[in-house]
Amino acid sequence: MTNKVISHGAAKPHAGGSGPSGSGVSPGGGVPPRADTSLPSRAAAAAVLDIEAIRADFPILGREVRGGNPLIYLDSGATAQKPRQVLEAERDFYTTHNAAAHRGAHLLGEEATDAYEAARTRVAAFIGAEPAEIVFTKSATEAINLVAYAMSNAATSGKEAARFAVGPGDEILVTEMEHHANLVPWQQLCERTGATLRWFGVTPQGRLDTSAIGELINTRTRLVAVTGQSNVTGDVPDIGQIAATAHAVGALVVADGAQAVPHRAVDVRALGADFLAFSAHKMLGPSGVGVLWGRRELLEAMPPFITGGSMIEVVRMEGSTFLPPPERFEAGVPAAAQAVGLAAACDYLDGLGMASVEAHEHALTGHALEVVGGIDGVRIIGPLSTEHRGGAVSFVVDGIHPHDVGQVLDELGIAVRTGHHCAWPLHRALGVQASTRATFYVYNTHEEVDALADGIRQAQQFFDGTRGVVPLGRQSGAA
Ligand code: ALA
Repeated sequence: MTNKVISHGAAKPHAGGSGPSGSGVSPGGGVPPRADTSLPSRAAAAAVLDIEAIRADFPILGREVRGGNPLIYLDSGATAQKPRQVLEAERDFYTTHNAAAHRGAHLLGEEATDAYEAARTRVAAFIGAEPAEIVFTKSATEAINLVAYAMSNAATSGKEAARFAVGPGDEILVTEMEHHANLVPWQQLCERTGATLRWFGVTPQGRLDTSAIGELINTRTRLVAVTGQSNVTGDVPDIGQIAATAHAVGALVVADGAQAVPHRAVDVRALGADFLAFSAHKMLGPSGVGVLWGRRELLEAMPPFITGGSMIEVVRMEGSTFLPPPERFEAGVPAAAQAVGLAAACDYLDGLGMASVEAHEHALTGHALEVVGGIDGVRIIGPLSTEHRGGAVSFVVDGIHPHDVGQVLDELGIAVRTGHHCAWPLHRALGVQASTRATFYVYNTHEEVDALADGIRQAQQFFDGTRGVVPLGRQSGAA
């Protein structure tokens, strides 16, 4: 075993320090109380993170942007920044072990294969899965497409795969709050097969509305696809409840974990879903690799999506047979360096403790709801309470287009996302065309949230008939 994934896990160097604390809970939000079963935690108590020490691990946070302002990065929901431990793990793979994994009769090929398979084992441990249940994909998007295409390939893939086949009369259930990555593939599956697409709506607060669950999940339902956390409103749907109802009628459940797995401990055995998709680049890892977790017995029966080298058992001109999972779903030369980087990201996050990661973001979110939501003329698009809610804080500023808000913030060195955030139907349902969104991660501070609020106030001043008169500049002195 020659893998040199850098272990960050044992020492927990950045937990227990002098980072921000406090519950940050604001009132309101309009959701009935329930047990937090949606993405169950396998972590214990949350130590307070040492944010200064964490920030020192992220080289990019030391750079200046626009006019010499220090970077305030509030766009981790789009992609997270990378600690040097992840960068070094990838660099070490390329400088020492680089070869095509699962190919080649040479030492480097063996080392690359070992590193790739060790990464699979590490990622499996991060979510409480078996290594054979971890399929490396290009991204969370590809992971979801894999399931959708496997289902439309099922009709022509033999008896074992028949359980995945869908057709006219069958229903695929999604939600109105999905990212396009967990909506469009299901629309396309319905187009290819004649199945019907249905969906849960949302409440005016941007929560998933499951009040019609008894009617929406019925004997025609074959699959339910639902987010683990909205990338716009931060709502954390109760996947446990949805999965229990879906399983009672024999339907499968796909959870989009892209905005959940990076932010709190997820145990797939307790989650309730049958499949979970997530991306490395949103959890401090490299871009170019994602994960599909699936229950082993399902992956074993499921036909492939992408075919080619490395996923075959026997190839003849007349036809081919395929390897068992996970190889069946990993055609082509694998993204081994990226998988190694993802394993290092898992080490890093587990070193901090996912309960601490969650607690830190919870506090930042509460603070943002208070200081951003408290500005006159600003409306939060999403729950006003941190209960069952993650750290995506989207908002609209009266009379100012989100792109203009984003531009003013950018001038101040504050990076946010603007637009519909790949969740156009959700914006439509909430009656807004677009929004500005701040998202938080382990390296963000309360002072940065204060700087965001200051920046929004400056945008209001700037667009309030005083264009060009009020100079833009940092007010809070946040680093
Ligand atoms: N899915 C990413 C986001 O929400 C790109 O920003």
